Amino acid sequence: MCGIIGYTGGDPALPLLLGGLERLEYRGYDSAGIAIIEGRKLVIEKKVGKIRELVRSLWGKPFSGKTGIGHTRWATHGAPSIKNAHPHTDSKGEFAVVHNGIIENFLDLREDLKREGVKFKSETDTEVIAHLIARSYRGDLLSAVLETVEKLKGAFAFAVITVHEPGRIVGVKQGSPLVVGIGEGENFLASDIPAILPYTRRVITLSDGEIADLTPEGVNIYDFLGNPVTKDIMIVPWDIVSAERGGFKHFMLKEIHEQPKAVGDTVRGLLSSGEVLPFSLKEFRRVILIACGTSYHAGLIGKFWFERLAGVPTEVVYASEFRYSGSPVSEEDLVIGISQSGETIDTKFAVNMAKEKGAKTVALVNVVGSSLDRESDHSVYTHAGPEIGVAATKTFTAQIAALYFLALRENPDRETLLSDLMRVPSLIEEVLEKAEDIERVAEKFMKKKNFLYLGRYLSYPIALEGALKLKEISYIHAEGYPAGEMKHGPIALIDENMPVVVVAPQDRVYEKTLSNIEEVRTRKGIVISVGFEGDERLKKVSSEFLEVPPIVEDLTPFLTVIPLQILAYYIASRLGLDVDQPRNLAKTVTVE
Ligand code: G6P
Repeated sequence: MCGIIGYTGGDPALPLLLGGLERLEYRGYDSAGIAIIEGRKLVIEKKVGKIRELVRSLWGKPFSGKTGIGHTRWATHGAPSIKNAHPHTDSKGEFAVVHNGIIENFLDLREDLKREGVKFKSETDTEVIAHLIARSYRGDLLSAVLETVEKLKGAFAFAVITVHEPGRIVGVKQGSPLVVGIGEGENFLASDIPAILPYTRRVITLSDGEIADLTPEGVNIYDFLGNPVTKDIMIVPWDIVSAERGGFKHFMLKEIHEQPKAVGDTVRGLLSSGEVLPFSLKEFRRVILIACGTSYHAGLIGKFWFERLAGVPTEVVYASEFRYSGSPVSEEDLVIGISQSGETIDTKFAVNMAKEKGAKTVALVNVVGSSLDRESDHSVYTHAGPEIGVAATKTFTAQIAALYFLALRENPDRETLLSDLMRVPSLIEEVLEKAEDIERVAEKFMKKKNFLYLGRYLSYPIALEGALKLKEISYIHAEGYPAGEMKHGPIALIDENMPVVVVAPQDRVYEKTLSNIEEVRTRKGIVISVGFEGDERLKKVSSEFLEVPPIVEDLTPFLTVIPLQILAYYIASRLGLDVDQPRNLAKTVTVE
């Protein structure tokens, strides 16, 4: 999703902006650009493609301006092109704007502006902001921005600079994320904390309806009526080292290997935070787990645990579907929004809607201070550290650790079950030690065009997650299916060219899953199975056998997901693809 960076201070802005954009790359983008105030002029450079293209185009242009904004664009309105890349300017080129999110009423605003004679240079919704600010400007950028935000509808964050006030940046947050970094004689604006971590760990996270007014000397925050707002400065605990690749070829591989720590830290964090939630799940008629993508798959696993271990009826819904479903929600419901970033707009809107209808809301997030964290009644944190690879890995296992922990709250066997959970990190280590075997399997199957992933019970969400990982980063079509449902459709696809990945730990549905494997074999499908070490029966019926150490049934997802993450990783890596920033995807999806 689009990334915003802004700098005003005593140093040339250009290298800081480019460095910031590189650290925002993980959000996913198709073009990038910067605007710097150079003397009394705005200089703008934009490129389609990677940041390195932008860097290349800036060689030999030693801009020394000390205030600037930068942007990575993930196209929503208008194809990826130089003309649609940000920053966008007003007609005279005196104001430059970078923007993340969607201005929902931009067509109306655009028509109004056109009637007044404004000529548009792009197809974006963003350009209207630049023209509106220019039109409202009467010597004070903040006042012009206040007048403009009144007219905008949608979820957005933007930053603006003007030649009339070099040294000033105004940033607006309404729905999409925006943070302010506080430095010494310099200040920063960014979509996400890692972008500014090398320069400062002192951060203000803006809330919706807030405006930041930055100069090198200070930062003032206002609401949309122009009233000053007092905000706390947060000291970010992560350091930059934990956001670097640390010897691994890709962030995703590093993050796969960080899972023992992510799970261990999450459980320790929850254990040390006393009563994680001040109520019992059973106080509610039902729990609704709301999420997108990989977080949704974590929710599907949580449902089994919540229902069986905590005895509370649980639904899992895609945030984008739930919001418009008209589903009855009331104070009898507990809604848990599961989101690594805490910024996914669909999840945030769906949880907020449930809150408005009276439900109690909980954010299960990895980013402290994120919108979902701040806007929910209670928060539960995963302690996975920053996740940079677009394809979620360590935050998934950390999320299921937190969900399992919540399910155990009042279980009579809590202590025993928790001690089993504490063994998970070392068992994940054992699976990681076999990564090379999985790399060999990846090499063998990387040219296949389709994959089917099957599993039952707790292994069904793992099949979905394995298929999602593969399609996200390798662009190979992959479908996850409940193994028992295969006979109602996907079985028609099976022939000697179809690899079928079957997740088959020795659990309550093991025998049934073995029967499904036979159905695949009878039709000459290639079986790649994930199962317990020493399971000779499974090994015998599989072309490839990816083993994990035996573990109690409930905890199998922690182990069975790992070979599937590694398989997807090595297929994509061997195909030479951009594993950490797959095409068309974004780490944090801040549009509906
Ligand atoms: C994007 C990411 C996925 C992630 C999903 C939900 O699609 O590419 O990896 O699972 O968003 O993100 P969240 O931050 O809400 O967990």
